[in-house]
Amino acid sequence: MKSMFDIRGKKAIISGGSRGLGKGMAQGLHDAGVELVLMGTNENVMKAAAQIHTEEVPAHGVIADFRDKKDVEKAFGSAMALLGDLDILVNNAGMQMRHPAEEFPLEDWDTVLTVNLTSAFIMSQLAGKVMLQKGYGKIINIASLLSFQGGITVPAYAASKGGIAQLTKALANEWAGRGININAIAPGYMATDNTAALRADEVRNRQILERIPAGRYGTPEDMVGTVIYLASPASDYVNGSVLVVDGGWMGR
Ligand SMILES: NC(=O)c1ccc[n+]([C@@H]2O[C@H](COP(=O)([O-])OP(=O)(O)OC[C@H]3O[C@@H](n4cnc5c(N)ncnc54)[C@H](O)[C@@H]3O)[C@@H](O)[C@H]2O)c1
Repeated sequence: MKSMFDIRGKKAIISGGSRGLGKGMAQGLHDAGVELVLMGTNENVMKAAAQIHTEEVPAHGVIADFRDKKDVEKAFGSAMALLGDLDILVNNAGMQMRHPAEEFPLEDWDTVLTVNLTSAFIMSQLAGKVMLQKGYGKIINIASLLSFQGGITVPAYAASKGGIAQLTKALANEWAGRGININAIAPGYMATDNTAALRADEVRNRQILERIPAGRYGTPEDMVGTVIYLASPASDYVNGSVLVVDGGWMGR
């Protein structure tokens, strides 16, 4: 029987694939036989792609800074030139800025919203045009617990991730009937650069760990099963959902 999780030979783009969760998901998709383009802000993404690349299943890197909306479009064009087709898009690129809300600089607000939310919309629009034409595609957005909760001193991040959850549903409403599945994964507290400041704060670190039923931070490998599920035929009737991968945090 052909496995419903079989994605061998598919082609994918992962934004923010140079490190952390993106690199972990890239490795997992590659292990499942998916040709990849990883996107990242500097040379590190080329190194990450070279580490993952094999002769049978290529992995390419594309350098792009999503603070510049034109760069997003350019990066998508470069990725398509490398892949020739597209089946899976993982909108993973994301960044964090922390300031008390009353002092949050508007410039930082704009940067976070552009990188975390607007770039995902631009990438989805471009990918959507390719996928709608062939009537097949899987778009996976990386949301957050702050798609549901407000956080502290991270209003721009919370707004951007709330937006990601809503964008996931909005696109699913338009494209689910046309062969494209759009869903999101909301990771909990994962041990990556994104949470380095939190983990370095002894009090916050203890408070967070005490609330996670699994008793530990998540890892990039913890994302792999869910991303393969959402990229595969196993999730063909799953549309507009935000799947939490958080060691039980939201259940507390
Ligand atoms: N680590 C967590 O606990 C956690 C929790 C919930 C959601 N997330 C989300 O998961 C995703 C990956 O985060 P991570 O934890 O691996 O963080 P990370 O900081 O290790 O990786 C972020 C990735 O985004 C890319 N990126 C950052 N700024 C960019 C820009 N201006 N242009 C293009 N790419 C850019 C980086 O190149 C990097 O590959 C993000 O969307 C993040 O918000 C992380």
